[in-house]
Amino acid sequence: MKQDLIEQAKAVMRKNDCGTYTVPTHGLYPFQWNWDSALVALGFACYDEDRAWTEIETLLAHQWEDGMVPHIVFHKHDDGYFPGPDVWRTGRAVPTTGITQPAVAGFALRRILDRSSNPERFRERARAAVRKIHAWHDWFYRTRDPQQTGLVALIHPWEAGRDNSIDWDDAFTRVPTDGVEPFKRRDTSHANPAHRPTDEQYKRYIYLVQLFRSLNWDTAKLHDASPFRVVDPGFNAILIRACSDVADLADWLGEGQIARQSRDFAAKGIAAMETLWSDKLGQYLCFDRVSNTLVQGASVGGIMAAFCAIPAARAAALAQRVRALAEQVEYLLPSHDPREPGFDSKRYWRGPVWLIVNYMVADGLRAAGETAVADQIETDSLRLIDKGGFAEYYDPMTGEPCGGGSFTWTAAMVIEMLSARRVAA
Ligand code: DGY
Repeated sequence: MKQDLIEQAKAVMRKNDCGTYTVPTHGLYPFQWNWDSALVALGFACYDEDRAWTEIETLLAHQWEDGMVPHIVFHKHDDGYFPGPDVWRTGRAVPTTGITQPAVAGFALRRILDRSSNPERFRERARAAVRKIHAWHDWFYRTRDPQQTGLVALIHPWEAGRDNSIDWDDAFTRVPTDGVEPFKRRDTSHANPAHRPTDEQYKRYIYLVQLFRSLNWDTAKLHDASPFRVVDPGFNAILIRACSDVADLADWLGEGQIARQSRDFAAKGIAAMETLWSDKLGQYLCFDRVSNTLVQGASVGGIMAAFCAIPAARAAALAQRVRALAEQVEYLLPSHDPREPGFDSKRYWRGPVWLIVNYMVADGLRAAGETAVADQIETDSLRLIDKGGFAEYYDPMTGEPCGGGSFTWTAAMVIEMLSARRVAA
């Protein structure tokens, strides 16, 4: 049974494998996505280490000169996706978008090397990748934390990956729609429109793209110019975890300066996470940097903070949050608390379960000694696969598969979870 599931997951990965990179799923997302690739590399590493490295190296080959690693690389022309390169117009030889995504690559690299039976074989590839990833982290703290608070802000919801989270609703009312050029969405012809963001949200997504484009994609200017600047605990936790992992890899490689700087980023970030803690909700919250207020929402972004080395008492409180959520849903982990106004069990990031989130939260809670909760999250993840196959995301109440099908990172997470041999399939 377990081996069968791994073989099915590998078949999904093969279907979406374009040789040197994978697409998340054909049709809906026909290019290379940043955090998808880093997480997919973990799945590859369980049976083909070289292919795992290539996935990350292809992504890093499209790093901008300023250090940013873009959120999409448009390797090949495809009219089936909006907004394509003609909207972004970033002027790159191989077109890319001009925003970024959660910095998972540093963590993924470290995990792949930790598991390798022969890490020495990858030493020089690791050195090249670590230098690039560190330049990306450095770019984050330079351009997205100009006041040096220790935490970075998103300037577009697509950067968080949690595109239409309830967390952004208030901040999004400040993003106008005047002057948005007419467009035709493509996503709603590949997936059920009731599972996707609304047209109103799309207009605001595109407003921000047009604004950044008018600033010639000078990433040093975008943070201050954006009417949307939100500090997301989950996004920061991923970056902090990646900085700690890069620090350890840099020690192994004898890259002293990278190690020191990465440890400083991580230590400052963890200390600053405290400013996002809410006793009332028992979890971390987003912070709206424009209105200077904490966003009073119980989203999974605040629970993903468990992915970095937060204090033990905070991790225990987050485990308690997960246990409380388990009483409200059939399958962990909903992306929003079902009691929140705006919760929608099928609409993308307003309620559904995502396996990549489950994986990261379980990993962090397990490291904090919260084994039972971590096991429950992974068991629920595999129950979802059993019920609905390798979907993009799932309804936490019914387990209905939602969004796109044959999803690469879902398959990769299944391989990961099963290869760790913790959960029975
Ligand atoms: C999309 O197109 O839906 C993506 O989430 C943007 O990255």
